[in-house]
Amino acid sequence: PSLEKDFLPLYYGWFLSKRSSEHLRKTGQAFLDELASIKAFKKESNKYFGQPPEEPKMKIDLTGYFVKRPPGVLHCTTKFTDFGKAPGADDYAQQEIVKTSYGKSFFLTISALFITPRTAGARVEMSEQQMLLWPGDVDVLQPAVSFPKGSRAHITLGCASGVEAVQTGLDLLEFVKLEKAGNKGEEVGEIGGGKLVSFGNGMWMLLLSKKIEVRAVFGGYYG
Ligand code: 2AM
Repeated sequence: PSLEKDFLPLYYGWFLSKRSSEHLRKTGQAFLDELASIKAFKKESNKYFGQPPEEPKMKIDLTGYFVKRPPGVLHCTTKFTDFGKAPGADDYAQQEIVKTSYGKSFFLTISALFITPRTAGARVEMSEQQMLLWPGDVDVLQPAVSFPKGSRAHITLGCASGVEAVQTGLDLLEFVKLEKAGNKGEEVGEIGGGKLVSFGNGMWMLLLSKKIEVRAVFGGYYG
């Protein structure tokens, strides 16, 4: 046993293989591109995505809108430990399952893609096994609204200018909050890949008809 305290990463999570990462980025881009050309989206994109008012019918460049894209391979954060400074960091890092899973490979399932005026992301559906690596304290929207374990699981695809990545998970919880309240959104129709649902306020979700499997390695990111 070492005499020094373990040096914790900035965050723990699943890091997609290069191939899976590229595939998911492409799928995300295709979604943004198709969404931007849909009538119902164009009708409100002006209001929520800052389309210049003088060009209300112009197709908005959503890929350009979500300008802050994760560098390198995409990942699904499990626990943001902030080098040990985040609440619950040590408890998480000391779990046996976290230690034994470190460096192990997994297949993650992606069930939906979503965008809000702040973020674009992919919703991750964890298996029971994967859920063991999910922390107990992150599926929460302030002030103190808790959601079922794993509700926040996502992969950030992009953030609008000035928006921090932490927002993507909070945005996903906003969708879950609506779902929980019985709001199924408005089904706009079938587009490439699945069923497109609008939840208002610039919140859109594509429920994938064929879920995407990505390969990922569990580990820590030290920055
Ligand atoms: P993300 O998981 O939504 O992409 C480095 O900043 C990574 O840690 C990002 O992937 C980011 O969000 C995540 N992150 C940053 N701050 C966080 C926080 N306070 N809580 C949870 N995740 C955070």
